[in-house]
Amino acid sequence: MTHEPPLGDRTQAPVNPYVPHPARIYDYLLGGKDHYAADRAAAEETSRRAPQVRESARANRAWMRRAVRYLAGRGMRQFLDVGTGIPTSPNLHEVAQRISPDCRVVYADNDPVVLAHARALVSSSDEGRTAYIRADLRRPDEILRAPALWETLDRDRPVALTLSAVLHFVRDEEEPARIVAAFRDALPPGSYLALSHTTNDIQPRRAADAAAVYGERRAAALMVPRPLHQVEAFFDGFDVVEPGVVQLPRWHPDGPVRPRLLDDVWLYGGVGRLANG
Ligand SMILES: C[S@@+](CC[C@H](N)C(=O)[O-])C[C@H]1O[C@@H](n2cnc3c(N)ncnc32)[C@H](O)[C@@H]1O
Repeated sequence: MTHEPPLGDRTQAPVNPYVPHPARIYDYLLGGKDHYAADRAAAEETSRRAPQVRESARANRAWMRRAVRYLAGRGMRQFLDVGTGIPTSPNLHEVAQRISPDCRVVYADNDPVVLAHARALVSSSDEGRTAYIRADLRRPDEILRAPALWETLDRDRPVALTLSAVLHFVRDEEEPARIVAAFRDALPPGSYLALSHTTNDIQPRRAADAAAVYGERRAAALMVPRPLHQVEAFFDGFDVVEPGVVQLPRWHPDGPVRPRLLDDVWLYGGVGRLANG
């Protein structure tokens, strides 16, 4: 008989192929190949209820790359990426190091499958550095005190914290705002936050139905879409840069935004600079 840890602690368990996991569901939606039958079934069910989830996943990955280019383009050379995901090229350090090869990136995720691929995440340029921490976002101290973090990043220089499509796996009772604040308070002056988050605002019923799959299938984490004002509130203590917290396709688009994308991308995102920092 297998012993299953209680929901909420499952993400610390070794790989369990029968428990759908956000990283592997996302990998499947992005067309990757690192997932099990339970992940595929959960992903297919969310897509059946809301075909928009695939477009949303692709748009999120594209937004992450734009946000990193934006930050590296403004001189950021250090990144802490929490909720990294299974490697999907180009990964964050590749995007940043294309702009400046000396960029340093620390990745953190709680999925053992992501850990299994950590080698792809730590293949840094010679001038830069990368590291991987297996840790849970809901215990920010574990990440902030991990030796690899400040061995890789310089405490005296600004850090861009990226929380890309991860905070919606933190339930209200786990106090996501407190978690973001714990990171914020540890960031050196001049640091940034880049955050994206799923929402129910665009098609409330469909989005709620799709998110419910995580609970129905007893996935490793529940998905909690949030309204715009709650996503904006995560930037407390940061000065949000233009154009604010917006639907991802509207955030510094590379070209004209197809109107269809604004129906299909159910995530908000933004970038903020530490206030008074
Ligand atoms: C939807 S993926 C996003 C991946 C990547 N950040 C991106 O935007 O392309 C969410 C990631 O967050 C991770 N994750 C979910 N809950 C987490 C937690 N409590 N602590 C650390 N990582 C978590 C999952 O394992 C997964 O890799």
